[in-house]
Amino acid sequence: MHKVSIIGAGVVGTAMGYLLKERGYPIVGIASRTIESAKKAREFIGEGEASTDIRATAKKADIVFITTPDSAIEKVCIKVASEGGFNPGAIVFHMSGALSSEILGSARNVGVNVASIHPLQSLADVREAVKNLSGSYFCIEGDEVALSVAREIVAALRGKEITLEADKKPLYHAGASVASNFLVATVGFGLELFEAAGIGKEDSLNALMPLIKGTVKNIEILGIPSALTGPISRGDTGVIEGHLKAISDEKPEMLRLYSELGRYTVKVAIEKGTIEKDEAKRIISLFDKYQSGGDDGQDNNQ
Ligand SMILES: NC(=O)c1ccc[n+]([C@@H]2O[C@H](COP(=O)([O-])OP(=O)(O)OC[C@H]3O[C@@H](n4cnc5c(N)ncnc54)[C@H](OP(=O)(O)O)[C@@H]3O)[C@@H](O)[C@H]2O)c1
Repeated sequence: MHKVSIIGAGVVGTAMGYLLKERGYPIVGIASRTIESAKKAREFIGEGEASTDIRATAKKADIVFITTPDSAIEKVCIKVASEGGFNPGAIVFHMSGALSSEILGSARNVGVNVASIHPLQSLADVREAVKNLSGSYFCIEGDEVALSVAREIVAALRGKEITLEADKKPLYHAGASVASNFLVATVGFGLELFEAAGIGKEDSLNALMPLIKGTVKNIEILGIPSALTGPISRGDTGVIEGHLKAISDEKPEMLRLYSELGRYTVKVAIEKGTIEKDEAKRIISLFDKYQSGGDDGQDNNQ
C-alpha cells in the first residue's frame, strides 16, 4: 500500500488521514504550520510523525496530500518541490474545489504526478468529516497516473467519482457554492422576512426546519424541477404581488434579491411545465414593476 503524508493538519487533512489509515494506507507523516495542529491530528489518526517540516514529511511518502487552505497550496508545493522533497514517482494531491491540479505545476515540473480530489461535502469538524466523507462524491482531475490512484482512494472511501477538465473547476465550484452556501444565505433571507413579520429568530428557524427538510427531501426524491412548489410554480400572480408589496413596504432593500430569485424560479416552473410562457411573462413583469419602484414610482432597486 502507498505510504501517505499529509501537509495541512486541519479538518480535511485529519479526517482523510484517519479514513485512509482505516482503509489500510500507512500514514507516515503529518505536517502543519504549527506543531500543535500536527500533534492533534496525529493523536486522532493514530499514526504518522507529527512535524512542522513539510519537506521531511513529504519525503517519507509515496502520496502527499496538501490539505492547507487554498491560498497556501501553491506555496507549499513550490517549497517542497524546490527543496527536493517529492520522491521520484510520488503523487501529490490537493483537495480544493476551486483550484485545479495546475496549481501543483511545480511538483509536475520535477516529475511528480499530480491531481486534485475534491470531496463534494461541507466539512465543519473532524468527527463529522469522517462520517460524511465516506460515500461522498469526489470530483477528480489531473494526470492519468495520479488519477488512477485518486480512483483507488475514492473507491477505498466508498465514494463516487465525478471527472472534470481542469479549466472547468471554477464553474463546478461555483455550482457547489450556489447549491450549498447560497442555500444557507437563502434561509437567512427567509428568516429576515419572518423577523420583519414579528416572529423571533429562534422560533423562526425552528418553525422553518420541517419545511426546509421536507423541501430537501423532495429535491432528493423528485429532483429539479419537480420539487418546486409555491405561488410561482402555480402561476399565482395575486400571491406574488402580495409578497412584493409587503417586501417593498417593510424590507425594500430585499426587493431585488426576492425578484432575482423569483426570476430564476420562473425558469424552473416553466421547466416543470406548471406555468405557460404568458403566465411567466406576467410574473416577470410584476418583478420589473416592483424593482422599478412599484405603483408609487419610488426607486426600490438598490
Ligand atoms: N472544510 C470543507 O468543507 C472542505 C470541503 C472540501 C474541500 N476542502 C478543501 O480542503 C482543504 C483544507 O481545508 P480545511 O477545511 O481542512 O482547512 P483548515 O481546517 O483550515 O485546515 C488547514 C490546515 O492547514 C494548515 N496550514 C496553513 N498554512 C500552512 C502551511 N503554509 N504549511 C503547512 N500547513 C499549513 C493549518 O495549520 P495550523 O492549524 O497549524 O495553522 C490548518 O490546520 C482546502 O483546500 C479546502 O478548500 C474543504
